[in-house]
Amino acid sequence: MEKLLVTGGAGFIGSNFVRYMLEKYPDYSITVLDKLTYAGNLANLADIEEKYGPQGRYNFVKGDIADPVAVKEAMAGARYALNFAAESHVDRSIEEPGQFILTDVYGTYILLEEARQVGVERFLQVSTDEIYGHVPDGSSVETDKVEPRSPYSASKAGGELIAHAYFITYGLPVVITRGSNNYGPYQYPEKLIPLFITNALEDKPLPVYGDGQQIRDWIHVLDHCSGIDTALHKGQPGEAYNVGGGNERTNMFITQTVLELLGKPDNLITYVKDRAGHDRRYSLDTTKLRALGWAPQKDLATGLRETVEWYLNNRQWWQALKAGEFKEFYERQYTKR
Ligand code: NAD
Ligand code: DAU
Repeated sequence: MEKLLVTGGAGFIGSNFVRYMLEKYPDYSITVLDKLTYAGNLANLADIEEKYGPQGRYNFVKGDIADPVAVKEAMAGARYALNFAAESHVDRSIEEPGQFILTDVYGTYILLEEARQVGVERFLQVSTDEIYGHVPDGSSVETDKVEPRSPYSASKAGGELIAHAYFITYGLPVVITRGSNNYGPYQYPEKLIPLFITNALEDKPLPVYGDGQQIRDWIHVLDHCSGIDTALHKGQPGEAYNVGGGNERTNMFITQTVLELLGKPDNLITYVKDRAGHDRRYSLDTTKLRALGWAPQKDLATGLRETVEWYLNNRQWWQALKAGEFKEFYERQYTKR
């Protein structure tokens, strides 16, 4: 058995990745290290615990990536370490940047330091297309300037720059992935697509920021997982790889598609004050990762339909989240907006 450490495995992408890898590689075991913040949810891993726990292929450790003791214990014996753990929501980073710096920058440093001691074969840092900042035209290539513009993207850029410094200075075999906007099952309902699906199901307004003409490149979470898998096994140490779905759409297109899929009226759309410093467009050139044999598989229309069905079939999962911490966040963010 080869051990992988997956930090942030109780979140949206991390839990999908754990499931994807355990199904694909029978010789891998995974230890998840997760602090279980508001975004971490053991329900995302319940089927994995049931299926792979008894086989000894899955193990959960509650802990903070910024805590060297917890990290040391979880990383012991790992061949690969993959860092998904992060504060991930841009609006929360505008409200309260401090925790983003603690987790996304300082926590990444603690992981890198332990990875250096353990001598892992690969350290994969999960980063984001937001580190390029607003892209008025063309598409970002990996050698483009890093110009983050929100506290979230700046903290993610900080994390990956430190990771790259560990490659240059200590020869730690670091690989970085820069994913575009993910959608799919188990996404916390603060993000655009799950928020709009669940609000529409509750006949609540869909709060569109500004004019709704901002563009994101949407990728199904499992295509992101296969991109990370490819970069982990075939990527070159010291290199970054863009992982984009090639589905650039305006937020208004996504909003209208969600309403159509649910048969809900357009008058649920409510324009609200724009996000501060809102990046209008992201766009990724994925030639570099495609050269390693990767390509996204899910077309957006099918992926959105399946995602809407998942939220329809898993009401308990998101209703529990919306009744908890999320309620206060929603009131702060949206009621007087
Ligand atoms: P998420 O918010 O759903 O999950 C984050 C997970 O990290 C949670 O389980 C949380 O409990 C855990 N966590 C947070 N702070 C921690 C800490 N200090 N120690 C240990 N665990 C901690 O996020 P996500 O959307 O699944 O994103 C996962 C990663 O992918 C992040 O690094 C994010 O920056 C990156 N990313 C996300 C997207 C996207 O569209 N969601 C796109 C590109 C990259
Ligand atoms: O691009 C990758 C990034 O995508 C990841 O690194 C982040 O972790 C992830 O959160 C996501 O960031 P965004 O800010 O793009 O995602 P969000 O779902 O918050 O918003 C998507 C777009 O929708 C953005 O233009 C803002 C807009 N929006 C969002 C919300 C929550 C609205 O118009 N209304 C809303 O209520």
